[in-house]
Amino acid sequence: MSKRIDGFSKLSKAEKIDWITKTHFKDAQQAAQQLRSYWNSSPTVQTQHDEFIENTLTNFYLPLGVAPNFLINKTVYTLPMVIEESSVVAAAGNAAKFWFDKGGFEAEVIDTIKVGQVHFLYAGKPSFLHSFFENNKTALLEATKLLTQNMEQRGGGIVSIELIDKTSELDHYYQLHVRFKTADAMGANFINSCLECLAHALQEQSQKDISFTRQDSEIEVIMSILSNYVPECLVRAKVSCPVSSIPPQEGTDGSTFAEKIVQAIEIANCEPHRAVTHNKGIMNGVDALVLATGNDFRAIEAGVHAYAARSGQYTSLSQANITDGQFTMELSLPLAIGTVGGLTKLHPMVGWCMELLEYPDAETLMKIVAVAGLAQNFAALRSLVTSGIQKGHMKMHLFNILNQLQATEKQKKAALVYFKTHTVSVNTVGDFLNSNKD
Ligand code: MEV
Repeated sequence: MSKRIDGFSKLSKAEKIDWITKTHFKDAQQAAQQLRSYWNSSPTVQTQHDEFIENTLTNFYLPLGVAPNFLINKTVYTLPMVIEESSVVAAAGNAAKFWFDKGGFEAEVIDTIKVGQVHFLYAGKPSFLHSFFENNKTALLEATKLLTQNMEQRGGGIVSIELIDKTSELDHYYQLHVRFKTADAMGANFINSCLECLAHALQEQSQKDISFTRQDSEIEVIMSILSNYVPECLVRAKVSCPVSSIPPQEGTDGSTFAEKIVQAIEIANCEPHRAVTHNKGIMNGVDALVLATGNDFRAIEAGVHAYAARSGQYTSLSQANITDGQFTMELSLPLAIGTVGGLTKLHPMVGWCMELLEYPDAETLMKIVAVAGLAQNFAALRSLVTSGIQKGHMKMHLFNILNQLQATEKQKKAALVYFKTHTVSVNTVGDFLNSNKD
């Protein structure tokens, strides 16, 4: 059977499943049944999911867990977390508990500026383009009025527009660099619509302008698109406590523990291999919240890692210090996220997560997400500088192997005790189960 097909998108869902399973699977019936077994029992909910993307065949589950006891700016939250990796939710819960009676987490939004650019080429005199831009700036902004009116009422809109000469980096390359505020929306559609409107107006104004037509170059728009690099859409989360209030951690006294965390972050600051893993741990918390609240985790990932490399070297997103006996750890993150629009209204579980968080506005959600990242970083470093990361991981790994080998409840209990002092692997667990038959 040919694996090439024309018009796949035009087939009905049943026809798509039929073609896919018959073309690519040994047991087509079983493969089709597997897809159907993941459909939602409510046809309405299933249709909602079908319509999120194109060519939907079924759903792909990720677990939604919760981490309670997060004290953030004196309010207690239970965080919804969507993630496939074991230990992350438990780690978040442990970090939340650790900081709860030490005053909890503090978080503040530094700014919420987002960026978009119209990239274009112009081969004429730079000075002419600059004066044309200054003369037409108001008209360009006026052209976006229909789009910005509503956003302005919500406290957002276009904050600034600048012509940037990039010809030293690429021949004839200029851009309109536009800064936006988008209130509680992530704002991608709003920003992109404004940019396309500006690009159109730029071209139109230049064609209307007599002196412009006398120049021997025209404006050629290449593309108009938002940037996911948003260093001005920044949030900071912080925890702090006297070193003397830190109890021994897995046999390490509080003061050595705090010093080791500071050193671990210094290592991440100067060593990119470590910094990437360090920041990955932060993103375990960030992405879990971003997914649960229906935001775009690819955009967040791209922007955060660019920010981590803003000095020219990839470094830690978090910092820590001990000053006058006070241990402080903080994290700054660029987070362009929203609480209205996009999936927030459409995905039933996103709605559920928003209610759990008591319907935060975008700035509150930025704070919560940054705290989740900081909590995860603290939890990871706490394990790394004391017992090592494998202790917790291995427990989950042991459960997975026990389930995979179909251990009984009694065998699981015995294994838990035995593997406190023995190495976990598929072989050792298999041997243990063979010599401990129920
Ligand atoms: C694992 O998902 C995350 C960690 O590797 C983070 C870190 O090393 O800091 C534990």
